[in-house]
Amino acid sequence: MLNVALPKGRLADKVCRALTETGYNVAPVEKDDRRLVFTDGDNGIKYFLVKPSDVAVYVERGAADVGVAGKDILLEYEPDVYELLDLKIGKCRLAVAAKADFFDELDRPLVVATKFVNVTKDYYAKKNRPIEIVKLNGSIELAPLLGMSDVIVDIVETGTTLRENGMKVYEDIVPVSARLIANKSSYKFKKSAVDELVGRLRSGLGIQ
Ligand code: PRP
Repeated sequence: MLNVALPKGRLADKVCRALTETGYNVAPVEKDDRRLVFTDGDNGIKYFLVKPSDVAVYVERGAADVGVAGKDILLEYEPDVYELLDLKIGKCRLAVAAKADFFDELDRPLVVATKFVNVTKDYYAKKNRPIEIVKLNGSIELAPLLGMSDVIVDIVETGTTLRENGMKVYEDIVPVSARLIANKSSYKFKKSAVDELVGRLRSGLGIQ
């Protein structure tokens, strides 16, 4: 059995579609019930449904052999896993955004609201721009609207959330997409099963 950690939430549908196109049976995963473990006996796979930010934890600790995680999460937490494949789905970007009337007052630290603390620190350290971080866990766009931060560092996919809150992107930091990751010892000891998954995803999704 290959244990696979899948992200719940906005990436889930895209990942399930990709697996279905590749011949895996994820129909039970797509059913909207509260189960967290599903077995695809024909393909020898057991799926775990976890929070997107936790996929890498399950894989790093070997509870899952492989998983699907956003590049944003991998950049933020730098888990000790192999990144096997860019699935080229769930495409978005990490960006700096602010209210439309924002201008950077360079005589004081920039206050940045984000859940991506490490990515943000690295980004501004490279620019030599002192910052103060406000760590939030969601609805980041609220922070500048309420005067709690100057800017945000967050995921932008369609840009709708920014637009509907009178904000815009100021700087792009990095493009993001979903990656297939593997536990390092699983990659060694379950190599043929992992390689089969990689091969099927590659050909099913038309990835070079
Ligand atoms: C993410 C992100 C933005 C939004 C961007 O939030 O934090 O708020 O999606 O998407 P868009 O550009 O297509 O509007 P998510 O919905 O994951 O929830 P969160 O607020 O809990 O982070």
